[in-house]
Amino acid sequence: MTVSAPERVAVLMGGPSTERDISLMSGDYVLECLRSFGTAAHPCVVGKDCAFELPEGTEVAYIALHGIFGEDGQVQRLLEARGIPYTGDRADACARAFDKVASKRCLLAHGVPVPAAVFLSRPAAGEPLPPPPPAAAFPLVVKPARQGSSVGMSLVKDPSGWDKALETVFALDAEGLAETYIPGREFTVGIVAGEALPVLEICMERETFDFGAKYTAGAVTHRFGTLPPEEEARVKKIVLDAAAALDCRALGRVDLRRNDAGEFFVLELNNTPGFTKLSLLPDEARAAGRTPADLCREILLAAH
Ligand SMILES: Nc1ncnc2c1ncn2[C@@H]1O[C@H](COP(=O)(O)OP(=O)(O)O)[C@@H](O)[C@H]1O
Ligand SMILES: [Mg+2]
Repeated sequence: MTVSAPERVAVLMGGPSTERDISLMSGDYVLECLRSFGTAAHPCVVGKDCAFELPEGTEVAYIALHGIFGEDGQVQRLLEARGIPYTGDRADACARAFDKVASKRCLLAHGVPVPAAVFLSRPAAGEPLPPPPPAAAFPLVVKPARQGSSVGMSLVKDPSGWDKALETVFALDAEGLAETYIPGREFTVGIVAGEALPVLEICMERETFDFGAKYTAGAVTHRFGTLPPEEEARVKKIVLDAAAALDCRALGRVDLRRNDAGEFFVLELNNTPGFTKLSLLPDEARAAGRTPADLCREILLAAH
């Protein structure tokens, strides 16, 4: 294939987050994809201390970092300061999307449907934890504001599990949230260069798409075309509205739940979605009649 892609691309992977190992796998697959169409792509492994050195002559940075540092605007700001174009969205938009409290506020303000939530802040030393909501509000999903891959998240069925869930959150982050649990089906939709990819249903036995389900081969099935066309169109509109609200139109993947009444709720927008061989986004490429390498090329060409 002939392309007018940049000559020298650094694929940033690793980093300090709880998703470091996943990022190393994403980065390896991105390298394989970029090289398959002739791009001189080089790995740039970011240290656990966030240190990294771009290979000599790097023209573009392809960000394959997940979680803190890679998805929260930090690496984007450093690349901007060095004058290096990078894949994905701008630093401020990434920071907002990555923070589940800030992004929920933004989505609410733009009328995008999200689960009801209360926001939680770590108490000062010696102060008690915030009390649980009334029993009728449970089950709740309690999660830290700034993590990914379901790290630190708990499904809390009744008030007896509240304190432990909060302690887990506050060990990772000073901010968190407790959301109404949406029973029903789970979907995700990729966004590349302003386009919504096909709606993917994540079919699983479990109640949530937890860390084990995310990275165990065969734990979930990815299915396409499981919604009637009217619902598929409705989901895509919600996803594009969410991307517009958060200003993350270049690259993302929006996670949603559908309750049994057919209402959809946006859980989050991932601004650097996983790109391992088992990940959702490469499958979305295939469902859209493209290869994962085609998608990497589109992501690369949209770098700025
Ligand atoms: N309010 C909710 N209702 C039902 N399931 C939820 C809810 N929030 C999260 N989950 C489950 O937990 C998973 C991870 O939550 P998510 O908000 O996407 O955070 P992350 O993927 O960044 O860890 C979701 O894919 C979903 O299965
Ligand atoms: Mg998610």
